[in-house]
Amino acid sequence: VVTGSASGLGAAVAARLRAAGHEVTGVDRRDAEVVADLGTPEGRAGALAALSASPGPLDGLVVCAGLSPAEDPRAIVRVNYFGAVALLDALRDRLALAPAAAAVAIGSVAAVFDALALPALLEACHADDEPTALELAAGLDGTRAYCNAKRALCQAVRRRAADFGARGVRLNAVAPGKMATPMLDALLASPAQRAALDALAVPQGRVGTADEIAAIVVLLLGDALRYVHGQVLYVDGGAEAAIRPDAI
Ligand code: NAI
Repeated sequence: VVTGSASGLGAAVAARLRAAGHEVTGVDRRDAEVVADLGTPEGRAGALAALSASPGPLDGLVVCAGLSPAEDPRAIVRVNYFGAVALLDALRDRLALAPAAAAVAIGSVAAVFDALALPALLEACHADDEPTALELAAGLDGTRAYCNAKRALCQAVRRRAADFGARGVRLNAVAPGKMATPMLDALLASPAQRAALDALAVPQGRVGTADEIAAIVVLLLGDALRYVHGQVLYVDGGAEAAIRPDAI
């Protein structure tokens, strides 16, 4: 199951998996096997109901659907945190039925900016208190809501390492840097967002391709990386290392 399969990184992941012979069910608000709005409890329930039409073991899950920092801050928290975690948690037991299942959440290098973290919002996310999280998000700009939603998502992955690991399911996050997708194009079209993006130094000196994220996601789903669990992998041309070189 790949969410956000209609565009950008999710589409690249789905394409790589299909090319390798896997059966992929895409979940997106458009152009997908399961069309659903992961930003609402009803939409998430609808997606899960549609996915349960073919029950049984699930080998892999990639939660990639997301909104950019240019969107409404509440919508960002709804989709990028609550939509992602709802699917991780609801599909955990079906993943556990497969012999060597793995799940990957798509975070972001934006999660590492400590100065933008809002502890109350992070706590509300971890408490699964969506109304409080949305109230707090309403007072933020899109960039700060995005940074916190992605930070909470990466923390949610690490906080679930024990639980998922005990069930034989590997869970990791991939945190992309600047990747060439329709989302990045839309951000670059806005002068304010473009300035913020330009300020993010990329040691490798270029934006990445969607397939460079798909490659690591597919590796994480497979057997070659079977002892990698509970990690956040930055796939960002070195951006995270440049921001905080001493964090290990
Ligand atoms: P994109 O805009 O090309 O694709 C996002 C997909 O998510 C779209 O197909 C969209 O329809 C879907 N989606 C959005 N809201 C939804 C909802 N409420 N319900 C169901 N589906 C929904 O963006 P891109 O770049 O492929 O982003 C994918 C993920 O990667 C996002 O979570 C994004 O935050 C993350 N990311 C992207 C970066 C980049 O530079 N492109 C950098 C870091 C993270």
